[in-house]
Amino acid sequence: MQIFGVDIGGSGIKGAPVDLDRGDLAQERHKILTPHPATPDAVADGVREVVGHFGWTGPVGITFPGVVTGGAMIRTAANVDKGWIDTDARVLLGDRLGGLPVTVVNDADAAGVAEMAFGAGRGRRGTVILLTFGTGIGSAVFADGVLVPNSELGHLELDGHDAEKRASSKAKEDHDLSWEQWAQRVQKYLAHVEMLFSPELFIIGGGVSRKAHKFLPHLQGIKAEIVPAQLQNNAGIVGAAMRAATEGPGAAAR
Ligand code: BGC
Repeated sequence: MQIFGVDIGGSGIKGAPVDLDRGDLAQERHKILTPHPATPDAVADGVREVVGHFGWTGPVGITFPGVVTGGAMIRTAANVDKGWIDTDARVLLGDRLGGLPVTVVNDADAAGVAEMAFGAGRGRRGTVILLTFGTGIGSAVFADGVLVPNSELGHLELDGHDAEKRASSKAKEDHDLSWEQWAQRVQKYLAHVEMLFSPELFIIGGGVSRKAHKFLPHLQGIKAEIVPAQLQNNAGIVGAAMRAATEGPGAAAR
């Protein structure tokens, strides 16, 4: 079965039909630049452009970089326009897509769901935490393979600051940190998360997962296993489609 997945990120809005049996894109994805400011209206137009590129007419799963409850309601917007807060994104995006059934899910949760099913977390029991390092820090917490949604561990306090302001990959660029300097901050952050959750496995996602060899060797003293994500750039798209398949409007009938 195929469902369309869209990933709304700080720099791009990308999407493709997803083959849910293989956990992979069924066609090459289409990407446009995220409008700035990333208002609900402007982003909704971008989503329509990406979905329209494929002439898609079925269910659509869409990631959002903030807390999303009930597959629809946006509750926070740390790195996008604050106009999103308290928007019913299922209604907004569904209307813009001409009434297609839409499910919206937190971006890190979507990436985590995909990694657990088809990537670095496959078959892993116990507590597994995926952390995405990008514009912010996203988190997805799993207990025996079951997601605890909207965990928001990127906003833990680290050295008196919001952790993502210290240790995201944007923070690496903003503060001009070497891989080693950045890894020291990530290590401190992981130690804090480990103190709270004692996970068996950390999966490191986001763009940095492709450069794992540059920072993983610098992470010392963490008891949990630490591995890079495997689906990399497509995890959000795949996970969004997976959530739409299991939780979206009409899911029970599929
Ligand atoms: C948001 C999270 C999101 C993460 C990655 C954070 O600032 O609060 O909801 O998952 O950024 O985009």
